[in-house]
Amino acid sequence: MVERVYLKHIAQHVGSEVEIRGWLFNKRSSGKIQFLIIRDGTEMIQGVVVKSEVSPEVFEAAKRLTQESSLIVRGVVREEPRSLSGFELTVTDLEIVQLAEEYPITPKEHGVEYLLDRRHLWLRSRRQHAIMLVRNELIKATRKFFDERDFVLIDAPILTPASVEGTTTLFETDYFDDKAYLSQTGQLYMEAAAMAFGKVYCFGPTFRAEKSKTRRHLMEFWMVEPEMAFYSNDDNMKLQEEYVSYMVQHVLENCSKELEILERDTSKLKNVVPPFPRISYDEAVEILQKHGSDIKWGEDLGGGDETIIASQFDRPVFVHGYPTEVKAFYFKPHPERPEIVLGSDLLAPEGYGEIIGGGERIADLELLEQRLEEHKLPREPYEWYLDLRRYGSVPHSGFGLGLERTVSWICGLAHLREASPFPRLLNRIYP
Ligand code: 4AD
Ligand code: MG
Repeated sequence: MVERVYLKHIAQHVGSEVEIRGWLFNKRSSGKIQFLIIRDGTEMIQGVVVKSEVSPEVFEAAKRLTQESSLIVRGVVREEPRSLSGFELTVTDLEIVQLAEEYPITPKEHGVEYLLDRRHLWLRSRRQHAIMLVRNELIKATRKFFDERDFVLIDAPILTPASVEGTTTLFETDYFDDKAYLSQTGQLYMEAAAMAFGKVYCFGPTFRAEKSKTRRHLMEFWMVEPEMAFYSNDDNMKLQEEYVSYMVQHVLENCSKELEILERDTSKLKNVVPPFPRISYDEAVEILQKHGSDIKWGEDLGGGDETIIASQFDRPVFVHGYPTEVKAFYFKPHPERPEIVLGSDLLAPEGYGEIIGGGERIADLELLEQRLEEHKLPREPYEWYLDLRRYGSVPHSGFGLGLERTVSWICGLAHLREASPFPRLLNRIYP
């Protein structure tokens, strides 16, 4: 019996005959020899089919193979330092599972819209494959990081009765005789969970009907949202820098091949260790004005502003103390300067902008009630949230990290759409 193996583990099988099940990535031929680049989802290998060494049927089958045909091959594994994977397969047997029709994605250049229309196939390409593996490792690192620190994973609902991050980006849906909204954030539910478990996080999809087309926005994205009882915003920022550094180091250790495929300059990622610089919003405005921005105190930072600030540093930078006016209703105001909040954004370097938003929450019932009114939010859907301030309210903080923004930065992508397996964009809900 020939053992069926995955290419990822091929190094353990040098000298043996193995079976690989996969797809034809590419093919070259020189008359009496066919070179098949075979992928099985985990890795690629070059299979060599020599006419004089296989049956005529096998050689014919190799000849007929088209790009992305599915196949089962058997062959002897040899070390081949000159090849991409370091190994080669001397093919002994080959079976076509399905002969693929003319594949629409060829090694030539295609436009982005063309590729997005074929996202279900595009995922097979080297670059997209590498990005998804980095994404997978970031999720693994996230779970490991929070597990090691005794956080409890609590899942937040997707269908919710109220807005949290502003009413202009809500996706509305019918909920029997009522209205519901797709969740913009799990935060409020994490605040409830933090009062039950101390330190919690959720990780799930969140939705924003962002009506602007930018390279930093998706309609559906995944967010990691930790929430901690008895944490100040300083404690919160410390946890963020530990978490972000942990993820970057994890990817550097586990994804060197993927980062190479992506041609990522890893020297820039190696700098990502604590402590991260911290500047106040006041300082940020000064820096921006010096750089010719016409931003005035009180206005939110735009994407361009974030890039200017971030480019002053070689690692992510915290901007804290934003104006209360531009932030959501739940942010705790600074005790001596109520016009600013105890919250921060973390801006990634190299022009990637905000990857985290977070802060300390209002713990006081009256102030929170007042804020809901100021933001013209209906009281009823938030009654349960106000309860948390009635029964054992404590200072608490938390944050939300956007997974696609983080993938995009760590992989060095030009646009967020490649960081999501099936991106939902302003003009696209297909495939
Ligand atoms: O700053 P945001 O809006 O914060 C919140 O939602 C808080 N409730 C989180 C919390 O404290 N638990 O969003 C957090 C992060 C942003 O920093 C960004 O990385 C990402 O979510 N994000 C988006 N990513 C892709 N597309 C969008 N449209 C995004 N909107 C926010
Ligand atoms: Mg934000």
